[in-house]
Amino acid sequence: MDTAETTQPCLSDILYFSILNGSYDVFLPCVSVVCPGTQNDLSSTGSQEHQYNLIRDRYDGCEIIMGNLEITQIESNWDFSFLKRIREVTGYVLIVMNHFQEIPLGQLRIIRGNSLYERRFALSVFFNYPKDGSNGLRQLGLANLTEILEGGVQIINNKYLSYGPWIYWQDIVRDNSAPIDIHNNGERGVCWEYPSLLCVSVTKTVCAPQCNGRCFGTSPRDCCHIECAAGCKGPLDVDCFACRHFNDSGACVPQCPQTLIYNKQTFQMETNPNAKYQYGSICVSQCPTHFVVDGSSCVSACPPDKMEVEREGQRQCELCSGLCPKVCEGTGAEHRQTVDSSNIDSFINCTKIQGNILNIQSWPKELNDLSVFSSLTTIQGRSRFSLMVMRISTITSLGLRSLREISDGSVYISQNANLCYHHTVNWTQLFRGRRVRVNILNNNRPLADCAGNVCDPLCSDSGCWGPGPDQCLSCRDYSRDGTCVGSCSFYTGYPREFAGPDGKCVACHPECKLQQGKVSCTGQGADECVACANLRDGPYCMSSCPTGVNDGQKGLIFKYPNRESHCEPCHHTCTQG
Ligand SMILES: *[C@@H]1O[C@H](CO)[C@@H](O)[C@H](O)[C@H]1NC(C)=O
Ligand SMILES: *[C@@H]1O[C@H](CO)[C@@H](O)[C@H](O)[C@H]1NC(C)=O
Ligand SMILES: *[C@@H]1O[C@H](CO)[C@@H](O)[C@H](O)[C@H]1NC(C)=O
Ligand SMILES: *[C@@H]1O[C@H](CO)[C@@H](O)[C@H](O)[C@H]1NC(C)=O
Repeated sequence: MDTAETTQPCLSDILYFSILNGSYDVFLPCVSVVCPGTQNDLSSTGSQEHQYNLIRDRYDGCEIIMGNLEITQIESNWDFSFLKRIREVTGYVLIVMNHFQEIPLGQLRIIRGNSLYERRFALSVFFNYPKDGSNGLRQLGLANLTEILEGGVQIINNKYLSYGPWIYWQDIVRDNSAPIDIHNNGERGVCWEYPSLLCVSVTKTVCAPQCNGRCFGTSPRDCCHIECAAGCKGPLDVDCFACRHFNDSGACVPQCPQTLIYNKQTFQMETNPNAKYQYGSICVSQCPTHFVVDGSSCVSACPPDKMEVEREGQRQCELCSGLCPKVCEGTGAEHRQTVDSSNIDSFINCTKIQGNILNIQSWPKELNDLSVFSSLTTIQGRSRFSLMVMRISTITSLGLRSLREISDGSVYISQNANLCYHHTVNWTQLFRGRRVRVNILNNNRPLADCAGNVCDPLCSDSGCWGPGPDQCLSCRDYSRDGTCVGSCSFYTGYPREFAGPDGKCVACHPECKLQQGKVSCTGQGADECVACANLRDGPYCMSSCPTGVNDGQKGLIFKYPNRESHCEPCHHTCTQG
């Protein structure tokens, strides 16, 4: 990368270089070029040239490979110089069944081994020579590789490989129990590719015992910073060759600047204006395109219990309250004219049906309500009808306990010989659109025969979808997990609760002390307890005093509990609590 490029403005801390649909996405040459790796093991497709071009398009200019670097089955001596900028691989490196003579990974400092080949190896090099002829891999140009954080090394059956197998791998591999399997390679060469230079610098096994990691000399003063990996050129966190955990603008740190930091004055964790997100081993102030913020990390997709939301222009993962939204296609789509036994299962857990109408005209005999739709919260009703329930003699109630909105389209309920409860529902509460009308024809079960089928007394006057306190439209008093209750666990029971919005019972923070005869908390936070179960730090109840929490200025805060179980700061000269 030349200097002209590096003066271009950067959108984020990171130069994200992604290859999606064969085109370059964002190219901002400011910091590190991060590229996704692969996980194909040994499969290959297409011609040799195609294979080579694929690898070149994927890795040209990359500095950090997020994932595995796999180079396999390249039969000719192609030019691989495009790999020479790679500095770090977060997964494994696999070099197998190739016929080229050298692999120019001279800048590679660290293989993290976050994923391992055959679950054991961070570096695997085997069968790199052709059946006929005398070419094949001669040198592993890994002159700068001095750290393998997880996993071992396998270099076997490389007939002509004479530099590399003889390296002192014990100095490079961090895990002393990781396998180092080296056999059937070429004659011993003298060091790597430059016999006159020191082979590779030894940065672990020669260190003074105090070092607890890597060093740049043998004296106890020559220890690298504890956050360094691969070695260093001096004792500071900015002198590392690679970072053990995270690279925050050149300094190696145990964690990226957190979104919440401890404020010494208010005893609170507060939003950090200088927070960064962890993206692989780098701290970035913005996640790259295609990535979503999940807590303090950039992820490619939210975990199953979270959903993606847009907040202040940023895509974030947020915990779903209850089931995560599952949008299902309604009837009216080409291949789905009705709901029947062949497709009913695909509606399980749907919270939204996107489609025209829920047109239910036949129903399995053994089901006496529509409770497979019990998670359905919204019917959009983009055509004339939103909900049509007709001629189902087996159902005795609708059972649509989560339904809170009918956006548009009329409701039509007719000729259900045993249906009750639907007439108790205050339909106008559910309606949003102008076209909504409700047609409940009198040819359902006669109202007089439904006299015994009343809503649970815990339901409010808005009605219910069926019998029991979990079928109410809303509750007379309080609710817990969608079921109406007479009271929350204010004074007894575990966990103790307080009444949240809409009369929902919400658990007190686990650090609140259980009170007898009075409430234990006034809100959900650890600072809303009436008393603490364990320790108190300012207004907050805690299980342990803050030790080593970030104060946002590179300092760490340590506290100890005093006799009253209050957290007090350690003397400022203490560094470890
Ligand atoms: C090893 O890294 C140093 C520093 O980045 C670089 O100058 C040198 O060229 C690298 N060695 C090889 C063989 O690429
Ligand atoms: C940290 O990242 C910067 C670019 O963002 C890079 O120049 C530097 O070499 C990295 N440092 C380490 C130790 O990986
Ligand atoms: C429905 O949701 C429940 C609770 O999250 C889950 O256990 C179940 O596997 C889901 N069923 C389907 C078919 O998605
Ligand atoms: C039904 O709900 C609407 C809107 O919330 C309200 O105005 C109306 O009074 C309710 N009807 C009954 C019978 O409770």
